[in-house]
Amino acid sequence: MAVSGKVWIVDFGSQYTQLIARRVRELSVYSEMVLPDITAKDIEENDVAALILSGGPSSVYEDKAPNLDPKIFDLNLPVLGICYGLQLMSRHFGARVHSDNRREYGRSAIHIKKETTLLSDISDGTIVWMSHGDHVDTLPTDFEIVAASDNNAPAALVHRQKKLMGLQFHPEVVHTVEGTRFFENFLFKIAGLKRDWTAEHFVAQATAQIRETVGSAKVLMALSGGVDSSVMGVLMYRAIGKQCVPVFINNGLLRKNEQFEVVQKLRKMGLPIRMYNCSAQFLGALKGVKNPERKRKIIGYQFIKAFERIAKSYPDISFLAQGTLYPDVIESRSVNGPSQIIKSHHNVGGLPKRMKLDLIEPFNSLFKDEVRNIGRELGMPEDILERHPFPGPGLAVRIIGEITSYRLAVLRKADEIFIDELKKSGEYYRVWQAFAVLIPVKTVGVMGDQRTYEHVIALRSVNSSDGMTADWSPIPNEVLSRIASRIVNEVRGINRVVYDITSKPPGTIEWE
Ligand code: XMP
Repeated sequence: MAVSGKVWIVDFGSQYTQLIARRVRELSVYSEMVLPDITAKDIEENDVAALILSGGPSSVYEDKAPNLDPKIFDLNLPVLGICYGLQLMSRHFGARVHSDNRREYGRSAIHIKKETTLLSDISDGTIVWMSHGDHVDTLPTDFEIVAASDNNAPAALVHRQKKLMGLQFHPEVVHTVEGTRFFENFLFKIAGLKRDWTAEHFVAQATAQIRETVGSAKVLMALSGGVDSSVMGVLMYRAIGKQCVPVFINNGLLRKNEQFEVVQKLRKMGLPIRMYNCSAQFLGALKGVKNPERKRKIIGYQFIKAFERIAKSYPDISFLAQGTLYPDVIESRSVNGPSQIIKSHHNVGGLPKRMKLDLIEPFNSLFKDEVRNIGRELGMPEDILERHPFPGPGLAVRIIGEITSYRLAVLRKADEIFIDELKKSGEYYRVWQAFAVLIPVKTVGVMGDQRTYEHVIALRSVNSSDGMTADWSPIPNEVLSRIASRIVNEVRGINRVVYDITSKPPGTIEWE
């Protein structure tokens, strides 16, 4: 019989652990991420119905390699180990785990050696994503190999009697073509779970958590006009009412009409938003600054200064709420050394350590499409939810080099034309994100009989599912031509329009 229950995902430090949580949520099963120090008793006391052990950067024999309470394997609990998780379980059952130069990385085909529920409906030769240096060298007691990789290394192992199993590859990443099916097999056919976790449940749980964290204190709810902070604002206001102080800061780096469009709609939903014009402070601090990371840091710092100024006028404000999402967290942190900080996203990496307010970020394990669904659950209008992502540092990262009022005015006009035409042609709703970038180099052109010598606008439009990877989007030629001719004709200071056809990677979505 199908059971309602939760899955615990033990985080051994892989960059992909949150993706496991996402895959489980996508299948409408409730999951929580936990640290490796959980015990068999915790599992019993918390009604955990299944366990997934994540991958991780360590090798099981390293001194400080994370371990797991061995009694967990004696519970009659379905356990799926992924990569490091599998190696840890294998070592517990007496296998030798080996680290050698047979490192497997990237796409690989796997071949089914034995029919088993974990592999039900999986195609023989299916492509999976390998990313590990260690492998299981000898078989753990009572386990059998049910799938192997091209070079005959074990790819999937299953215990003969217990519901213990493991995959040497990462079913959670999109490159594993049938990834979702491995999770479906484990969650529904093996653990017998029910699909009953919905956006409604998330709202109820987040509401309870917010109330518990905040107590009787007040929360400064910083709205940016974007989807994430708007949904966060509505959730927060519904959760704690007047203890939530929603504010909108005009940093001088917004698009045309940005603040009014969003603020009016959110006010209609009952949020008593107060607006603060801090343009002079932001633009003053950015004067003469060309370096993208410096710009991001300055903007992060100015936001905090603004929040602290505002917080002073409200007694009891001790929290700052932000709609930070999981991809922002990933890209702004350096995970386990080797991975690099790509950009200091203002709402994560740019915050100074000395900030007096505590951060509350209830969406920091979610992806944008999940936030949109939560917005729908909260009854928010589609035109707020379908807005393209807009970065916290705003137009500052879309003007290459120094920010000036003139450049901001030029970019705003060009961007407005681009978005207007995309909306008219319906393209806006088909792409993940589109915007104009000002490249302040001058090129020669001709208008009428006159030589012109003016700046360049780049148009960027991308398709993506989470912002972490993206492809440039093929906008119809006639739409592009109309946009280019309108920009050159209507925006003074621009005589050339180019279309950016770089994917991410190797490019990033924003230019800075
Ligand atoms: P990149 O340029 O890193 O962008 O490929 C990925 C996604 O994140 C958005 N982005 C930001 N969002 N604060 C934000 O809230 C930021 O500092 C920031 N920088 C980039 C970007 O618009 C894209 O959707």
